Amino acid sequence: MLLGVNIDHIAVLREARRINDPDPLDALGIVKRAGADQITIHLREDRRHIHDEDAKRIVALSPLPVNLECAMAPQMLEIATTLLPHRVTLVPEKREEVTTEGGLDVKGYFAPLKEAVKGLQAHGIEVSLFIDPTKETVKLSQALRVEWVELHTGAYANLYAMLYGNLTSSHHSIKALELPRPTLKTLLEASLKELEDAATLAASLGLKVAAGHGLNYHNVEAITRMGAIEELNIGQSIIARSVFTGLKEAVVRMRELVR
Ligand code: PXP
Repeated sequence: MLLGVNIDHIAVLREARRINDPDPLDALGIVKRAGADQITIHLREDRRHIHDEDAKRIVALSPLPVNLECAMAPQMLEIATTLLPHRVTLVPEKREEVTTEGGLDVKGYFAPLKEAVKGLQAHGIEVSLFIDPTKETVKLSQALRVEWVELHTGAYANLYAMLYGNLTSSHHSIKALELPRPTLKTLLEASLKELEDAATLAASLGLKVAAGHGLNYHNVEAITRMGAIEELNIGQSIIARSVFTGLKEAVVRMRELVR
């Protein structure tokens, strides 16, 4: 299974001081030497972490393929077709959200997505859609002729955290859900089945399947057992661990889990 490391959070730390340090560019060689397969960055419309100049330097200098996540806004598509990363992952974006909280509304935005996908592919960029793990979104994605889908694992990760991670419903990204443990377990199993079914369907339709969001050193194992998933993109947990262990160890440890 391929491992993409999302390095946005290095820029989050930099932006806390609005200086030049730490520079996400410095992560590229370390991430490669630690055994990862891809660099993932999210150029948000509000530029709250990765900036245009970061994206430009990272795409130009990365020793690994770069997966650029962005919204399908015309300005972002123009940047993508100028920078020419290996892959663009189209994601939904709301300014007020802390992180990408759901998958694309593929049905509602089918026509503009079609245009966006065609435009990117015409520049030789492979396209992925960040989607919720449902059969409908997978089928619609195939109809858009993208190369990849990335299944949103956030619902699974939140349920896992509620069951095993001792997190309370006050955690910002987890909606209040005060349910008995057996119910949470049933929901967790259902979310895994949903992911596996969506991945299997996507692979059977000829799509390459990635997954990501909220994955960490504890919850990733169940996802790595899904044969139809070819790649995971993981950011927050790796960069959080790297504060204590260094980036190399944090990526090496995740690499050991993502086989
Ligand atoms: N994949 C996509 C499409 C994302 O938007 C994100 C978050 O930027 C990730 C993966 C990584 O999520 P996390 O930082 O929770 O590991």
